[in-house]
Amino acid sequence: MNDVISATSDPRYAMRDRMAMYTGNSLKIGLFGANCSSGRAVTMVPERWTGNWEDNLALARIADDAGIEFMLPVGRWKGYGGDTDYMGTTLETITWATGLLASTKRLIVFGTVHAPLFHPLIAAKQFVTADQVGEGRFGLNIVVGWNEDEFQMFGVTQREHDARYDYAQDWIDAVKMAWGPEQDFDFDGQFIKLKKVRAKPKPFGGTRPLIMNAGASATGRAFAIRNCDAFFTQASRTSMAETAKIVQSAKDDARSQGRELDVYAVGVVTCKPTQKEAEEYYHYCTIDNADWSAVDGILGKKNISPATVGEEEFRRQRHHYAHGLGGLLMVGDPDQIAKQLAELSQAGLRGIGFSFVNYLKELPYFCDEVLPRLERMGVREKRR
Ligand SMILES: Cc1cc2nc3c(=O)[nH]c(=O)nc-3n(C[C@H](O)[C@H](O)[C@H](O)COP(=O)(O)O)c2cc1C
Repeated sequence: MNDVISATSDPRYAMRDRMAMYTGNSLKIGLFGANCSSGRAVTMVPERWTGNWEDNLALARIADDAGIEFMLPVGRWKGYGGDTDYMGTTLETITWATGLLASTKRLIVFGTVHAPLFHPLIAAKQFVTADQVGEGRFGLNIVVGWNEDEFQMFGVTQREHDARYDYAQDWIDAVKMAWGPEQDFDFDGQFIKLKKVRAKPKPFGGTRPLIMNAGASATGRAFAIRNCDAFFTQASRTSMAETAKIVQSAKDDARSQGRELDVYAVGVVTCKPTQKEAEEYYHYCTIDNADWSAVDGILGKKNISPATVGEEEFRRQRHHYAHGLGGLLMVGDPDQIAKQLAELSQAGLRGIGFSFVNYLKELPYFCDEVLPRLERMGVREKRR
């Protein structure tokens, strides 16, 4: 089992229960990106997601009642511009999570934290506070950052890519020490030096928050395998066999280090009563009404241009980024969506976090139509 803080362990709150998100469902389902305006749909349609608190709270309560396992926010400090200033209005994720945890009973809520922008001891205490409020339901998504603009805004210089993960290693080690049973300790890392640390209280129930990361590079993936309980990765868009291989290889690499790792994917769902309606709505939002100037801004920040990747790949990526900054595309009627989700579960994925254009309007239909199908297919238990 992953590093359980055994001195004060309460068997009711074992790390494996945190990893299972306190449900017996084989496939965990989460909502991704609701703390940001427009969520993950780079669209101009008027019903696009507000990202405001009122809508987030209403969404979390519906998700909680329906047995959805988690909500995962995006840590974004500056919008991408374009006609909608895509993701320009965002709720800070730890305070957002704490508010949602106080208003729900079962939902796991993650905070997404840029390690270089938060002092580890302040962050560790914020996480403990959120975890106490949620009675063991806070989760941590560590990100190292990639968006130069955001770092400039803070007056912080980004490290070179792999060194970001060296720093993050120090940072998570310091956070874990602050969560652990040690009373007074010094921390002498490569980058972080702390003296006579006192950090009380500890996370809820003698364990620690679930930790996830979504590094895509070899260095980012290795960081996740060394440190995390959940690894969010890119599932194959064309082959379930390929997805199964990706999942198995991450789990095998973790096991070779004596660790258990759950593998998750992210996606975008458009679910309507018929396949035709779903395809039409998808087309309306992400092709006819995409915020193409924002898409081009995102591609620019990622250095994706015809000159760097070639004309054809550029066109493919441009389209891909409009529908939710990447991730699996799931467009269909409830049978089709349920089938795709069940296949992901069979490929070994422990769960998936996805977005809708308007989460609040679309989630109830998903819960009414897709969840019962997943129950009948055996990948989710009957709702209590
Ligand atoms: C599910 C998921 C959530 C992510 N959340 C954020 C985020 O909120 N903020 C951020 O700056 N990067 C985020 N990222 C980016 C990753 O943390 C990571 O930096 C990216 O996948 C590139 O991998 P690399 O750092 O190994 O190069 C996310 C990626 C995924 C797949």
